[in-house]
Amino acid sequence: MRLLIKNIGCLQTPTGSYSHKGSKQGQNVKLIDAAIAIEDGIIKEITQGGKIPAGDFDQVIDAEGKLVTPGLVDGHTHLVFGGYRQNEIPMKLAGAGYLDILRAGGGILDTVRKTREATFEELYDKSAAFLDEMMSFGITTCEAKSGYGLDMENEIKMLEVIKALGENHPADVVPTFMGAHAIPPEYEGRGDEYIDMMCDELIPEVRRRGLAEFCDVFCEDSVFDSAQSKKYLEAARAQGFELKIHADEIEDIGGSKLAGELQAVSAEHLIAAGEEGMDSMAEGGTTAMLLPATSFYLGKTFAPARTMIEKGIPVCIASDFNPGSCPSLNLQLAINLGYLRYKMTPEEILTAVTINPACAINRGELVGTLEEGKQADIVIWNAPDMEMLCYRFGSNLAQTVIKKGEVIK
Ligand code: NIG
Ligand code: FE
Repeated sequence: MRLLIKNIGCLQTPTGSYSHKGSKQGQNVKLIDAAIAIEDGIIKEITQGGKIPAGDFDQVIDAEGKLVTPGLVDGHTHLVFGGYRQNEIPMKLAGAGYLDILRAGGGILDTVRKTREATFEELYDKSAAFLDEMMSFGITTCEAKSGYGLDMENEIKMLEVIKALGENHPADVVPTFMGAHAIPPEYEGRGDEYIDMMCDELIPEVRRRGLAEFCDVFCEDSVFDSAQSKKYLEAARAQGFELKIHADEIEDIGGSKLAGELQAVSAEHLIAAGEEGMDSMAEGGTTAMLLPATSFYLGKTFAPARTMIEKGIPVCIASDFNPGSCPSLNLQLAINLGYLRYKMTPEEILTAVTINPACAINRGELVGTLEEGKQADIVIWNAPDMEMLCYRFGSNLAQTVIKKGEVIK
């Protein structure tokens, strides 16, 4: 199967299969009047200046002079969950904080109850529909975390759903085990014992079944402290997992510092990250996975993205799609917030939603740039340039979405 995309006004992409930091974060290639030849789902040739790749094609798409970029990569989602939590909004508007609701047995624990009640099929169908919606917004690869089961049966159920989605859905889905997302009700007041149970039982079982590539922990005031997070992550590393940390989302209790010390692949959220934590991340080669739609939805400040870029930390922008702190899977909204609130440039933002998250979920060799030999994951935007994509707000500007050479939208 040979596909040609011709008449591309501007083909904009970062390059390479590694994450970009510092000034490199803002370097994209821009090819004017370009074309892409695709064969069997792989990019074969890219031309510019009106030149058309040679050969016969089974399908030709006219990009009508528009912007073309790599398919977006959402490096942080909680894609699989039972129920919703719209009941929390009046509590929040009356002044209850995110952690107040969690401490009262709601929040994540409410979703845990609903996820435990849900069958594999119910979770699968709901998440597959979310993935369809994500692809319609231009996302062709995403990460998905467990963490609403919090016991052997239900964490495995969630991870099996993520695995089945990865096998059956056109999107690529990369699994992360997040058993340390909250302390389940049966371990209330016994966080240390819950961590021990995960280190001894759950982490080895997830490894044995090959159900996750990364382990993640919610290192936060009244959830897991820095010492508990360290113990869990060290057990995960000993089992061969790579590490991620939900760090400094509400309070800086040492999560970003720990991420750097453990050379975690990524620290995620970082709204409250301080100098010490950021220096540790730069030192440890840890990527920042920033979630601006969560800052918006929780009414918080925005992570210090510019400082991170100055310190040489690779920056990603992701959705954090979940039923509590960010019930939106529209990564285009996160792009708008990255532009206006983080004050990142359109080029830095494109890197932050393509190659950098691809590398943070170990897919940098396959996706995240438009280059010969990479997977043909491509978006034609209803926009002439990245500036337009960063500026227009609330509309879906993804016009044509191509995954492994197949037109999905
Ligand atoms: O990344 N902070 C922890 N986890 C999610 C929220 C999960 C939830 O509220 O259900 C987050 O914001
Ligand atoms: Fe999250």
